[in-house]
Amino acid sequence: MCGIVGGISSAGTVLQHLIEGLRVLEYRGYDSCGVAVAEGGAVTVRRKVGRLSELERVLSDGALAGARAGIGHTRWATHGKPSDENAHPHSDGSGRLALVHNGIIENYLELRRELLAEGRVFHSETDTEVLTLLVGREYERGRSLGDSVRAALARVRGYYAIAVISTGKNPELVGARHGPPLVVARTKDGAWLASDVLALLPHTREVTYVEDGEVVELSPGRIVITDLAGLPIERAPRRVDWDAEAAGKGGFAHHMLKEIFEQPDVLARTAFDRIAQVHGDVSFEGEGWQDERLARVQRVQVIACGTALHAGMIARYLIEGLARVPVDFDFASEFRYRGPCLVPGTMALAITQSGETADTLAALRLARDLGAFPASICNVIGSTVVRESGAVILTHAGPEIGVASTKAFTAQVVAAFLLAVRLARARGTLDEAQGRSLLDDLRRLRPRMEGLLTEATVDKVRRIAERHLHAKGFFFLGRGVNYPVALEGALKLKEISYVHAEGYAAGEMKHGPIALIEPGMPIVVLSSPGVVQDKVRSNIEQVKARGGHVIVIGADREALALADESIEVPEAIEWLSPILNVIPLQLLAYHHALGRGCDIDKPRNLAKSVTVE
Ligand code: G6P
Repeated sequence: MCGIVGGISSAGTVLQHLIEGLRVLEYRGYDSCGVAVAEGGAVTVRRKVGRLSELERVLSDGALAGARAGIGHTRWATHGKPSDENAHPHSDGSGRLALVHNGIIENYLELRRELLAEGRVFHSETDTEVLTLLVGREYERGRSLGDSVRAALARVRGYYAIAVISTGKNPELVGARHGPPLVVARTKDGAWLASDVLALLPHTREVTYVEDGEVVELSPGRIVITDLAGLPIERAPRRVDWDAEAAGKGGFAHHMLKEIFEQPDVLARTAFDRIAQVHGDVSFEGEGWQDERLARVQRVQVIACGTALHAGMIARYLIEGLARVPVDFDFASEFRYRGPCLVPGTMALAITQSGETADTLAALRLARDLGAFPASICNVIGSTVVRESGAVILTHAGPEIGVASTKAFTAQVVAAFLLAVRLARARGTLDEAQGRSLLDDLRRLRPRMEGLLTEATVDKVRRIAERHLHAKGFFFLGRGVNYPVALEGALKLKEISYVHAEGYAAGEMKHGPIALIEPGMPIVVLSSPGVVQDKVRSNIEQVKARGGHVIVIGADREALALADESIEVPEAIEWLSPILNVIPLQLLAYHHALGRGCDIDKPRNLAKSVTVE
């Protein structure tokens, strides 16, 4: 979703840094972009609908190259279509101030009317311009930029991360946050802000997370944090263990492909240090995961969005199966508005790669307000969900740049498996030997994943993908713990290949969707040894009888023998089979999208982290 960068320096120019920062944030999804710099007593804005390369074209005259302070933005349209006029930064018309914004100003119509009544002029359809004019009105009154921002924000209802630049005697750069993330960092001669820590890594790995209700004033080598009343707040920077290289493509054609291939290492990073093999148990950081608390859990309520919800659905099978604790799951956006009834002893489990998804965060807060214990599985240290959770399992998947989530999903499933074992051990539904055996199975998965990620498999998947490039639609079928994997396979294909794909519980096909099957339609079926393997084989027969072209993925040899095409996956215990089965599905989506010439890492209309409702 929208990205923010900003910088001020006494030692060098900032424009190139702003562009590089925006390039790092491109992966989040955007439809227009822009920069504003303060130079020579004026603030100049340049913005463009489309990709960053368009903006670079209009900046190539070099006119802004000497500036020492500036802000930049990638916009994912919410209020007003993608256009040059609606792109950020917005200026207040004075030529002295510009602002970029992520989020939503909820009372913007009322504020807009007030500003129009004063004779102020709007040039865009955005809620952001309202905020810009509000700050500008305060600034006109001779206040510092920090005071102007604080005064303007006192009038605003909504969710925002903003960066504002002004030029009076000296350029000033101010940020503020209520909702979407904002991170700041200081270097010897500069100070930088961004909506995503990745954009700060080229400057430093020591960063400070801005909290809700805070305003940050940046000057070269200095950062001052205050609350909305202007009272100073002390906060020490934190060291980020990701480096800028981890966010690169590492020789792969796309981030998504690199991230698919990273999965065996991600399994190790998520799990291995936490396995207490002698005790057949798992040890997590923090008191929230201790026996005493876990023994009190009566129910787990998973809340998540997109791919993370599919991991949450798998978590249900694992936690109910191993720990015998009932699990509910909801799309976070649905949970919020269905008037949920939570029983005492509920653990609310938010699953989120970014830790900033607006619906997931709001759902977690709601669950907490309803008395649930807030816990999370998350990839981003310092993210809002992590900070608001009483217990956290960090997945340590490293930065995920491809918009279509792959390694983050695998890490979430691994974390859910660890949690299921921990809950089961705490509650006595697994003994030490059973715990040891399950954790051994998990360890043994890594070489199997590596064995699957070979050139031979990739080639085979690519040929299948290319054979069906012009298919009107796909079905993905699975049962049991592989039903959510089928949903995930369909989602991957939709996201990056723009082909209609439906994930379905294989046993439900006969209750309607089977009517859609036409001769030759690709039907991808997941089939692994386990409680439902015979049932899946019958479902394959039903589909074949209607002329469906069956592609079986899994380790069930008999099912593989029934297929028109197949990808054999190494065997694993049923609980862990999703981690292997999802890999060919990710590769299938990748090669299908590649064959159709789609922009794999930046699919149309999608955002990596959805920080609005
Ligand atoms: C967006 C992304 C998905 C992701 C979902 C939830 O829609 O495109 O890949 O699964 O948000 O994101 P989260 O960061 O909460 O896991």
